[in-house]
Amino acid sequence: MSRGWKRRGFLQAAGAAGFAAALGPASAQEARRLPIPPLLDARAARGPIELVAQAGQFEFLPGRTSPTAGYNGAYLGPTLRVHAGDDVRFAVTNRLQEDTTVHWHGLLVPSEVDGGPHNTIAPGATWRPTVPVRQAAATAWYHAHPHGRTGAQVYSGLAGLLLVTDAQEQALGLPARYGVDDLPIVLQDKLFDREQRLVRPVNHMTAMHGLHGNVLLVNGAPQPVAEVPAGLLRLRLLNAGNARLFDLAFDDGRSFHWIASEGGLLREPVPLKRLSLAAGQRAEILVDFADGRAVRLLDVGQAPRRTQPVMQFLPQGAGAPGSAIPAKLAQWDSRTVAQSARRRRIVLASGGMGMGGMGGGMGGMAGMASHGLHVIDSKPFDMGRIDQRVRLGDVEIWEVTVAGMVMLHPFHIHGVHFEVLRRGGQEPVVEDQGRRDTVIVDEPVELLVHFTQRASEQAPFMYHCHILEHEDAGMMGQFTVG
Ligand code: C2O
Ligand code: CU
Ligand code: CU
Repeated sequence: MSRGWKRRGFLQAAGAAGFAAALGPASAQEARRLPIPPLLDARAARGPIELVAQAGQFEFLPGRTSPTAGYNGAYLGPTLRVHAGDDVRFAVTNRLQEDTTVHWHGLLVPSEVDGGPHNTIAPGATWRPTVPVRQAAATAWYHAHPHGRTGAQVYSGLAGLLLVTDAQEQALGLPARYGVDDLPIVLQDKLFDREQRLVRPVNHMTAMHGLHGNVLLVNGAPQPVAEVPAGLLRLRLLNAGNARLFDLAFDDGRSFHWIASEGGLLREPVPLKRLSLAAGQRAEILVDFADGRAVRLLDVGQAPRRTQPVMQFLPQGAGAPGSAIPAKLAQWDSRTVAQSARRRRIVLASGGMGMGGMGGGMGGMAGMASHGLHVIDSKPFDMGRIDQRVRLGDVEIWEVTVAGMVMLHPFHIHGVHFEVLRRGGQEPVVEDQGRRDTVIVDEPVELLVHFTQRASEQAPFMYHCHILEHEDAGMMGQFTVG
């Protein structure tokens, strides 16, 4: 179906290999049931949606608790559902010992309420943004985004799903019973040491490649089992890992239908057997379990990584003749590219190569976690510097390329949707289609970006690599829109 990703010199997986042998896949523990995060619907809330960022203790592996953080709980946060057209009020309280922010990744909202690194919530403080939801149905998410500490806080658990719904989506008759046939699937990987303690080492490997785990989690549970109705299921997949690329496929090779990218529904379902999700990306898929057979979802990985089970589905009951897959999903217009469209070149670079102009700030490979190991356009992130100024309403072409060490970077832009125009100088691949906010960059990509949200000097929007260790070490820039 697709010609797939070409990944030359793929280096990401190396970091976790040493630990994997020690722990073994899923150990021999009984599989846990898929936990379903509670659903908070904004229309059911009497006042603002309340989120409390708090520390906790969480049992990932049997008999072992680890210090974690979550929203309204010990690990991760509730699934939030908001409705297109509404102004949604939030009250986000910080009960951590350090600054945090909450970024609505995937919402098209002005920068003042976007929750980026400038929207700091001090310990003890409550942030009360009113967030206008003016976009089509989509699977978005929210996560901590404090300056320099995003990797640590997201790893500790500060993330959750954020679903936008609208009338068009509801009219399609897609599976929509949350936790029953419309399942939240938050994919993560965590690193446990030989004593099965959760660790987050800062060393050469993690600084260079991002933090890779040796245990795969879904909604916080290692390789869980979901009992599902024997019929059509909708999976809302989020890669909320720090760095890992998930390459998802079912163990019996069954195909599924991809129906939504980050920005919402595709125009029509796309049959696939395999789907890549880089850190920060989301996808919705429809899978038919009417045959009643147990099936595993796998991370089939990129060579030399081995295949790992992600979770298992156990269909229950008689095959429901039920829901059909709609032939058409959504109508939306691609922006036309004016001849005059402004082009910007964005160069992502790691490891001290392709970084002319850095001026000796690197300190070689010593102090690997230090700021400036990963840069954009030769510059490490600076909270006080505006890197790009965009005019409100403009459609631009951003050419994003990788220099220096050959590495895959999931590139994310706040406050926009974009489409992939070209990849590696050619037509984009099947998996590039749709409205996006995060895109895999290994080969050069050209993105058609539409800027519809204002961003001020005081709280600009971010563009960055979504490998959180890259972002925190400097692979991020800021822009205003006005
Ligand atoms: Cu999901 Cu700037 O982040
Ligand atoms: Cu974002
Ligand atoms: Cu990166």
